[in-house]
Amino acid sequence: MSTLKEKLLKTVTKPVETGKNKITIVGVGQVGMACAFSILTNNVSHDVVLIDVMADKLKGEMMDLQHGSSFLKNSRINSSTDYAASAHSSLCIVTAGARQREGETRLDLVQRNTDIFKGIIPQLVKYSPDTILLIVSNPVDILTYVAWKLSGLPKNRVIGSGTNLDSARFRFLLSQKLNVAPTSCHGWIIGEHGDTSVPVWSGVNVAGVLLRDLDKNVGTDKDTEGYADIHKQVVQSAYEVIKLKGYTSWAIGLSISNLASAILRNSGQVHAVSIMVAGNHGISNEVFLSLPCTLGENGITFIVQQKLTEDERKLLQTSAKTMHQVQSGLKF
Ligand SMILES: NC(=O)c1ccc[n+]([C@@H]2O[C@H](COP(=O)([O-])OP(=O)(O)OC[C@H]3O[C@@H](n4cnc5c(N)ncnc54)[C@H](O)[C@@H]3O)[C@@H](O)[C@H]2O)c1
Repeated sequence: MSTLKEKLLKTVTKPVETGKNKITIVGVGQVGMACAFSILTNNVSHDVVLIDVMADKLKGEMMDLQHGSSFLKNSRINSSTDYAASAHSSLCIVTAGARQREGETRLDLVQRNTDIFKGIIPQLVKYSPDTILLIVSNPVDILTYVAWKLSGLPKNRVIGSGTNLDSARFRFLLSQKLNVAPTSCHGWIIGEHGDTSVPVWSGVNVAGVLLRDLDKNVGTDKDTEGYADIHKQVVQSAYEVIKLKGYTSWAIGLSISNLASAILRNSGQVHAVSIMVAGNHGISNEVFLSLPCTLGENGITFIVQQKLTEDERKLLQTSAKTMHQVQSGLKF
């Protein structure tokens, strides 16, 4: 007896179970779901798998997204507490873990989230040995190092979301001060995603006009027009949003979807992301910090050789020392 489906559909070949550009997102909290929503609505991937330890919440989030399928481009959305569902992912985004509590620094989270990563990273690599890992959980630079160590993947395939978000916050604040669109305000925050991040004032420009050529003190303590406050606000941004709404989500979701798009579309777009920086700007320790890099389907392809001032190099090296100190206290 034929089923209705068999009466309707004559088989030519079996359907492919896994689409191209499959993305797994581990952690369906505020950040993971903002990433999923942004990835799906921006058509970055049509094959998204969600993984979490909280089975009910996971199923609820999956169903809620699936119910929106008619408004997306026929996306495949699955979820599971079992990592087998993540098999053959081109990109695995890790947002799982504890988040900062009010007043807690990102570095305070480190051992708690390292322990969580021990249960996640080897599983992802087991089912997708050629994947690219994109780490979001905080403290993101150190956890990207942890993921690199736990995964055994080459350094080009382990990336932290890093200061991509800080740079976006910087451009937004600059745009408000100058009345120029954020995408036309060119400025980079490098180094640690967090308290010791480095604003590269020497390169900030609009249409190639360097602000430093117009005012050599811009962004320094001698600046009388308050531009230096922009970086202070960037550093405070997450603390302020967490104080006001309990967590940050939309901007990081958009930033991750933008990175995922650059990787899966092999675009060569330049983003400030957290990478293994030993051998750059006088840093010798194996630490992860953000530098502007081109992204493609192999992960990191090139590091842009920024001409930093001596002060900027020193700040970057201080971030590296802080990272190295915290890393050496980690229990794997
Ligand atoms: N890099 C950035 O720019 C950036 C920005 C914002 C937030 N974050 C970080 O992202 C992380 C997530 O934040 P959030 O607000 O979504 O937190 P959340 O508490 O809302 O969600 C965390 C999720 O992780 C899950 N989880 C915990 N342990 C797990 C495990 N072993 N396996 C699978 N899932 C597990 C939890 O069940 C929960 O659903 C935090 O570390 C936060 O600090 C990073």
